[in-house]
Amino acid sequence: MAQFIQYAHVDSNAIKDELIAGLLAPQAFTSPKYLYDALGSCLFQAICELPEYYPTRTEAAIFDKYAEEIGHSVGEGVTLIDLGAGNCAKAARLFPVLHPAQYVPVDISADFLAESVNGLQKIFPHIEMTAIGMDFSAALGLPPAVRSDKRIFFYPGSSIGNFTLPESLAFLQRLRKACGSDGGLLIGADLIKDKDVLDAAYDDAWGVTAAFNLNLLRHLNRLLDADFNVRDWQHRGFFNSELSRIEMYLEAKANLTVHWQGGQRRFERGERIHTENSYKYTQQAFAKLLEHAGFGDARIWTDPRSWFMVCHAKAV
Ligand code: AVI
Repeated sequence: MAQFIQYAHVDSNAIKDELIAGLLAPQAFTSPKYLYDALGSCLFQAICELPEYYPTRTEAAIFDKYAEEIGHSVGEGVTLIDLGAGNCAKAARLFPVLHPAQYVPVDISADFLAESVNGLQKIFPHIEMTAIGMDFSAALGLPPAVRSDKRIFFYPGSSIGNFTLPESLAFLQRLRKACGSDGGLLIGADLIKDKDVLDAAYDDAWGVTAAFNLNLLRHLNRLLDADFNVRDWQHRGFFNSELSRIEMYLEAKANLTVHWQGGQRRFERGERIHTENSYKYTQQAFAKLLEHAGFGDARIWTDPRSWFMVCHAKAV
């Protein structure tokens, strides 16, 4: 039977303070983590199926094609720590080549992991499984139940791109510290490509990404007791070539005022709330970032169009 550990408590006052500070900033912003309430997580899964959203299927094809090589590079018997594990499907596909000694899926809620991990445990009874509910984006203190030897942090999907550049470096440095001298990192990163391809991936024809972004307002209404009217806002998502990142915004369609418990903000028509960045890298820039964080010996696998990369790097 898999073990479950809920390792952090949710401080709803801190969340409110953080959100209000962002909404009152001259350029209003919210952290992308608030895109993922229950409906937001479903909408993100739908995005992954869209013809325009290439990262998920491109990364999966790389893992399929190079599974043996990746398994060889990472080695067997590792402690596989899956950050943002969700339904655990990506890691499970690697079990037959990695044969991890312990599998540690980490996600914001251990409850969400329960069903998937229990199912997996039946298929792979010999792998010790310890699911952890924690928000790993800010701190990474793992409980003692996580083995300390051969820790491999698994961070697929190019989620690293949703951090700002200083945040990415700080995050990777925390992973480096937590993985010890015999550990490493298996990570996916999205690569720079034609602006048309990138624009379409974050502003699809069916409006699924728009729904994903707009759903944030319903989440804010619940978290802040606010009165955002979803119909007053529209989705903007495009590639900013100078900063090498997708930028997502919610844009006011008219002059309006949003109220929440204890405060308000007026938005002029066309004014935006910055809801997400998604950084795109060159292979060289990403390898440099890893080096900077204390990882080396990087092996990189990519697809025939060089749209996405998977990288195994070791602690050095
Ligand atoms: C989760 N993350 C890697 C996605 C991305 O591509 O940055 C989130 C996303 N936002 C819009 N579409 C997908």
